[in-house]
Amino acid sequence: MKVVITDSIPEIAERLISKAGFEVTILKRSKSFSKEKFINAISNADGIISLLSDKIDKEIIDKLHICKVIANYAVGYNNIDIDYAKSKKIIVTNTPDVLTDATADLSIALILACARRFHEGEKMIRQKKFKGWAPKLLLGFDLKGKTLGIVGAGRIGQATAIRAQSFGMKILYYNRTKKEDFEKQTKAKRTSLDQLLKTSDVISLHLSLNSKTKLLLNRDKLKLLKPSSILINTARGEILDEKFLIELLKKKKIFAAGFDVYQNEPDINPDLLKLENVVLLPHLGSATIETRNSMAELAAKNIISVLQNRKPFTPVN
Ligand code: DGY
Repeated sequence: MKVVITDSIPEIAERLISKAGFEVTILKRSKSFSKEKFINAISNADGIISLLSDKIDKEIIDKLHICKVIANYAVGYNNIDIDYAKSKKIIVTNTPDVLTDATADLSIALILACARRFHEGEKMIRQKKFKGWAPKLLLGFDLKGKTLGIVGAGRIGQATAIRAQSFGMKILYYNRTKKEDFEKQTKAKRTSLDQLLKTSDVISLHLSLNSKTKLLLNRDKLKLLKPSSILINTARGEILDEKFLIELLKKKKIFAAGFDVYQNEPDINPDLLKLENVVLLPHLGSATIETRNSMAELAAKNIISVLQNRKPFTPVN
């Protein structure tokens, strides 16, 4: 049986899959890699390890003649039409848990970078504009005593809150269901989305992207943010109205925003690049050596399990 990995990922994936007796092909991607080439490369695969940037829609799924499993190399799986895949008896899996800590760490890094204006300081040094310590130079704000609003208290949202608590932050959260253990551990209070947006000093987004969460933070919701607030997005760009958020940042209607994800990734709205009060990262949530290895291992194990007629470890459909 054949397994296609759609780009180079840690070699543990290839090693495990080959050891299990399957033939592995790793695609060599280039800018000119068209949709047609992509389809040709995967259409006869029994299993596929895909990236979050691979859009696996109905058209592509229809061309998968013998595929039994698509293991997405990410916790998010909004790039795959999972219901259509299910209707074609294709199992889709993701990589939860193993990237929780790395992504929560990055959310905290963005919170600190925004609150303490790292990027402006960095830029000042690199542009040789630092003239010595000054009482009012790049003043940010303390996290201690401030409120962190977690939008989506799943694994990553909770891990971010637990970290923030050690800075002395109070936690509010918005989630479909009450999280009793999380509340006990962090004294977090569940609240409505509006109340969270109105009262939090830092808002951190940790929702998966789907039809219910797309543009959840629309203009009306974003208007609720306090002028002193910081918004962090390590989830998916499409969850908020990016254009309107840029307007708020331009008019200093919020203090700052930290982005790891974008609405039209990898294209970045040029207006964002002009702003001082933003920190911009290139989708690095899970980007640590250890985490990417664990993701590769989990994706490979999911593929092997399904192709050996066993249950996958982390199915999503
Ligand atoms: C994922 O795996 O979905 C994350 O976006 C990685 O940062």
